[in-house]
Formats: sequence, C-alpha cells, structure tokens
Amino acid sequence: MSKPVNVAILGATGAVGTELLKLLESRNFPVKNLKLLASPRSAGTTFEFQGKSIQVESVTEKAFEGIDIVLASAGGSTSKAWAQTIVDSGAVMVDNSSAFRMNPEVPLIVPEINPETAADHRGIIANPNCTTILMAVGIYPLHQFQPIERIVVSTYQSASGAGARAMEEVRTQSEAILKGEKPKAEILPYPLAFNLFTHNSPLKDTGYCEEEMKMVNETRKIFAEPNLKITATCVRVPVLRAHSEAINLEFKEPFSVEKAREIIAESPGVQLLEDWQKNYFPMPIDASGKDAVLVGRIRQDISHPNGLELWICGDQIRKGAALNAVQIAELLLEKSCLKKNKSTLKV
Ligand code: A2P
Repeated sequence: MSKPVNVAILGATGAVGTELLKLLESRNFPVKNLKLLASPRSAGTTFEFQGKSIQVESVTEKAFEGIDIVLASAGGSTSKAWAQTIVDSGAVMVDNSSAFRMNPEVPLIVPEINPETAADHRGIIANPNCTTILMAVGIYPLHQFQPIERIVVSTYQSASGAGARAMEEVRTQSEAILKGEKPKAEILPYPLAFNLFTHNSPLKDTGYCEEEMKMVNETRKIFAEPNLKITATCVRVPVLRAHSEAINLEFKEPFSVEKAREIIAESPGVQLLEDWQKNYFPMPIDASGKDAVLVGRIRQDISHPNGLELWICGDQIRKGAALNAVQIAELLLEKSCLKKNKSTLKV
C-alpha cells in the first residue's frame, strides 16, 4: 500500500464530485487529508468521509497548498481558472473537463488502455470524455487482437452527463408532464423527459457537434492511432444515469463473433452480458452503479464481411468519469509518478 497522500476534490458537490468521494472511500484510496472544494454557494455544506464530517470550502488561491492530487470536476472554465495555481502548488491535477484533453503535453488516460502515459505528465492528466471512455474500454480489447479500421457509433446519453442539476431537471419535468403541466427546460436546452434530442454541445461548421468530435479526437489520442476513421452521432435520452452506445466496427479481415465474445469475456473493465433466448442485452439500469462497461449483442454486420456490431452500456458517472479519475490517481501512486519528471506545464 502506498503512503497516504493529501487529496482535494474540486467540484465536490456535483454529480461526479460526490461519486469521487464515495470511490475514494470504497476503494480504500490512501488519503491522509481530504479537502472538498466547490463554489461559494456550497461553502459550509458537509459530507461524511471515513466516519468524519468534512466541510466544503470555497476554492481560493491557498486551497491547494500541501495537496498532492486534485481530482477536478467543476467544469472546463473552473479547471482553466485554477490549473496553473494547482500545478504551481506542486499537486497533480486529474482533470475531468475537456479543457486540456487535446494538449499534447497532457496525457489522456484510460488505465485499461494507456497507463504507461502517466509517467509523461507535467502536472496535469486529463480524464477523457465519458462517452469516449465507455466506447474505448469496450472496443480496445478487440482492436488489440485485430486493428479496427473504422468506427461508426451512435450514442444514447443520459442526463447525468450534463451534471446533477440536469438530472434533477429531468425528474421535475417528468413530474410536470405527468400532472399535465408544461415542462420547463433551464439546464438543458429542451425538455428531455419523454423526449430526446441530438447532443446539446456546440455545432461545428462540419455539422458535427463538440461531443461527437470528442469521441473522434480523444479515441485517436487514447489509442495512439491518429488516423483511425471514426464517425459519431450523439443523442441525449431521458435516462438519468448510464450511457448506451451502438457501435459498428470495421476490421481489415473478418472478425468472428465467437472470438469477439471470448475476448470481451476475459478483458479488464468490461463484462459480456447477453442472453439471446430472452432478448436481454445491457441496459442503463444494469450499468448504473457498476464499474464494468457492459457489452452485448455482438453480431456480424450483414452489410460488410469485416464488420461487427455491438451494444454497450456504462455508468457515465463511474467509469465514464469518477472511477476512471480515481484509477488514474491510483496509477500515479502505483507508478510512483506523483512528482513531475519534466518541467511544470504552463497553461
Ligand atoms: P456548486 O455546487 O457550489 O455549484 P455538476 O457537474 O454536477 O453540475 O457539478 C459541478 C460542480 O462544480 C459542483 O460541485 C459545483 O459547485 C462546482 N462548481 C461550479 N462552478 C464552480 C466555481 N466557479 N468554482 C468552484 N466550483 C464550482
């Protein structure tokens, strides 16, 4: 067991922040002192950790002094605002936002795929986009066996991806609709309850939205395959927690369904879940609260001799965010690479 370290959670009151707290405790992460940071709105709120009550503090310049690891999940603008202070204070920031993911000096890590890149950090490690992590974990074992040539993915993303307040909004909208009232949309752009819409991230000139381009660019960086062909359509669905994805993979050679099942069944971070007799395949309610990405409905693509179709579900808050971040922190301790071996990043 590694020596206990000082940890701070930035965004401790959010959907991912509260999960980070639970995971640090349930995984027995060696915490010496834990600091909970959020906006001034939440200062004074208390959370239980290892039998003790900890007060949330408002983030300040001095908040990171003496901290070894900052798990940041307070949005891109907050991460950008505090990154330099965190890095200069000597802590390593494991950042859940998209702010630094494509920076070539920042490792983008899924521990089941590219743990070796942790040693290259200069103070910041990025946690990939949730939808990207879930797909990457689900397909990487197949890619290792036979390189994937093209990915076509469609996503079914829950409200949790837009934070705790978006989850609450779906509950309130559902209640309003069931009472015959008009649902209000304040956090998400349109009512999500009893509805769905294409992902609410900004659109590019190409017609793709930011979320779709995160899947493209981040998967290429994590797999170290800069030319991998990927196209994505991301959709927000009225599910509270856990994302689903329909994935079509094209390989150079035919890939048998049996071999794919065998590989998934024995790979880390994934669980094969399919009962063809019962037409039972992964569902968000099965994935919620679970660590593994559930994979099922693996079948031959009838339109392409080298194609495979598969369906995955994964908990967006856990493996898609908090769990992956805690695994990165564990990796830093295991590999003894808390200290930067290169000069500190200027961001
Ligand atoms: P707060 O609860 O005080 O607003 P989610 O992704 O679930 O919406 O959570 C976002 C998290 O980021 C919350 O903990 C939120 O704290 C925190 N946060 C938002 N804005 C700031 C800010 N400017 N400084 C620090 N924390 C912030």
